Amino acid sequence: TGPVATAVAHPNIALIKYWGKRDEHLVLPRTDSLSMTLDILPTTTRVHRDPEAAHDTVTLNGRPAEGEALRRVIAFLDLVRDRSGLPHGSVVASENTVATGAGLASSASGFAALAVAAAASYGLALDATALSRLARRGSGSACRSVFGGFAVWHAGPDSGTGAEADLHSYAEPVPVGDLDPALVVAVVDAGPKAVSSRAAMRRTVHTSPLYEPWAVSSRGDLTEMRAALLAGDIETVGDIAERNALGMHATMLAARPAVRYLAPATLTVLDRVLGLRRDGTPAYATMDAGPNVKVLCRRTDADRVAEAVRDAVPGCTTRVAVPGPGARLVDG
Ligand code: DP6
Repeated sequence: TGPVATAVAHPNIALIKYWGKRDEHLVLPRTDSLSMTLDILPTTTRVHRDPEAAHDTVTLNGRPAEGEALRRVIAFLDLVRDRSGLPHGSVVASENTVATGAGLASSASGFAALAVAAAASYGLALDATALSRLARRGSGSACRSVFGGFAVWHAGPDSGTGAEADLHSYAEPVPVGDLDPALVVAVVDAGPKAVSSRAAMRRTVHTSPLYEPWAVSSRGDLTEMRAALLAGDIETVGDIAERNALGMHATMLAARPAVRYLAPATLTVLDRVLGLRRDGTPAYATMDAGPNVKVLCRRTDADRVAEAVRDAVPGCTTRVAVPGPGARLVDG
């Protein structure tokens, strides 16, 4: 490892959602979550550590990063500087294939790639678990993008906070049976979100009377999800994912003031997904901090599902994703 390192990471979509922290600083979640890493929309991040530099220079898609995005990258590099003992600044260049802030998991691929590249650039020899814990500090969902395929993020024992709890909160791969899944990513609106997921999750935890009941039921969902994945039972996997996501959005709708990411077009897609199921095609929807919908289905049904969804909403674009690789170093 030299002072320059480049890493690629892919986004992941949660089938059991992460929504709510018990420690904001360490990014420790309230509940376990489980996701599929996609094979599309990667982020490539290059970190060039400069022993002469006192500050970081960060560009996102060729433009200087500013505001909250810049603050989060610098705070993340501060962690890496602390651990490595190297106080050096860096030039960071990140290329994203997706519009940031649209609920399409760009922070997950972004911080997973940054964790891998920065660790290498600052000479930290970290195994996958340690990289996952590091990526988590940038954005919670990023800890799952360290791994390919399906991954579970352990919340860790809920008693602890501090260094001890930090050790126990990381992602790891989940065993999956004979499943041939696809996620149809349906973009109904590519604009930035009105409320960041970080702020929305804080408000939900603090004000929503539905939050605790969802968190409790999500723990049961995770147990059932693991069994359904192992059994290769796409109907049950999809059913659990859909109810977990709708439940998460219900907690937000009950927050004060309400957080509503779902748009009319989102509901139109949900209706179309119901219609597909009624006609015998297993298809199930999940939504994150935005109006876009990801539809879980069999790989062999994916093109037909994508077409049905595009038909339902004028201007909607779709991409078909299958399980993709974990974050890794590349040349460049
Ligand atoms: C709705 O990981 O973006 O996509 O930890 O505050 O950076 P921070 O939040 P983030 O939240 C993702 C929330 C979600 C569900 C999920 O991916 O599990």
